[in-house]
Amino acid sequence: MRSSARPSRLQSTLSSVRPTRSIRKERSAPDAPRTHTRISLPWPLPALLAWSLGWSEWLSTQASGLPAAGSFVLGTLAAGLFAVGARSRWRLLITLAGFPLSLALSGLSQGLPAVVWLLPLALLAAAYPLRAWRDAPLFPTEADALEGLETLVALPPMARVLDAGCGLGHGLQALQRVWPDARLEGIEWSWPIRLAAGLRCPWARIRQGDMWAASWAEQDLVYLFQRPESMNRAAEKALAEMRPGSWLVSLEFDVPGMRPHARLHNEGQRPVWIYVIR
Ligand SMILES: C[S@@+](CC[C@H](N)C(=O)[O-])C[C@H]1O[C@@H](n2cnc3c(N)ncnc32)[C@H](O)[C@@H]1O
Repeated sequence: MRSSARPSRLQSTLSSVRPTRSIRKERSAPDAPRTHTRISLPWPLPALLAWSLGWSEWLSTQASGLPAAGSFVLGTLAAGLFAVGARSRWRLLITLAGFPLSLALSGLSQGLPAVVWLLPLALLAAAYPLRAWRDAPLFPTEADALEGLETLVALPPMARVLDAGCGLGHGLQALQRVWPDARLEGIEWSWPIRLAAGLRCPWARIRQGDMWAASWAEQDLVYLFQRPESMNRAAEKALAEMRPGSWLVSLEFDVPGMRPHARLHNEGQRPVWIYVIR
């Protein structure tokens, strides 16, 4: 991997493209075909369901005579199922911590071996490893954030499109709304999040891995929703690996010092920065 600071190549390559265009679109009445259905429970319902599931697992297994440690593990894992789908780190924490904390406060946890309290922490670390916390927190792309992108980016039929750091697959779903025939791929560092994304987006090819180590060479478009600090590195990688005429698209964060091909800004949404590789 090259170092992240090479502004001269970045500027000469990407600032020589067509002038910036920007379009604004209303969020309502989208015309794009919807090729999937999203079931999204309003917050805090997922947390309440997670805690209820944890408690019902605890109570039923205690009633059947299971040792307390076993009931605790099953209750925590059951609550953890809902935590994987959380849309932010705070919701993930609240959803995952609710059952163990309420059990501790209830006094029913007396006699539990201390080691079992490591389980919620281990689940949290697995769901969201430190590296991913540092690189980009788990914020999803809104469903209609990319509407109109197809009017600014000309992709070939069956284009290969990668969501680098695909999280739970919200970006992939937004991309699919825009390009229903694209061959969508995702790469995600966290194993549990990658598995959840696979369940949510069975039509996409999703793998666990480091998006910086994976090749972008075969992609027609790479989509990112990362952090401002990652953008120079992303542009360097795109320039080093991607074909001329392919695209780098970033939600919210632009590449400092680079002139975008266009900027899409749907009303009430984060801006979308569009760069063409020359
Ligand atoms: C802000 S979320 C965006 C998720 C998705 N792209 C979307 O737009 O809905 C960033 C995701 O990138 C993942 N991530 C961060 N660093 C990564 C890396 N080096 N390789 C793969 N995934 C990474 C995080 O785990 C997180 O799920």
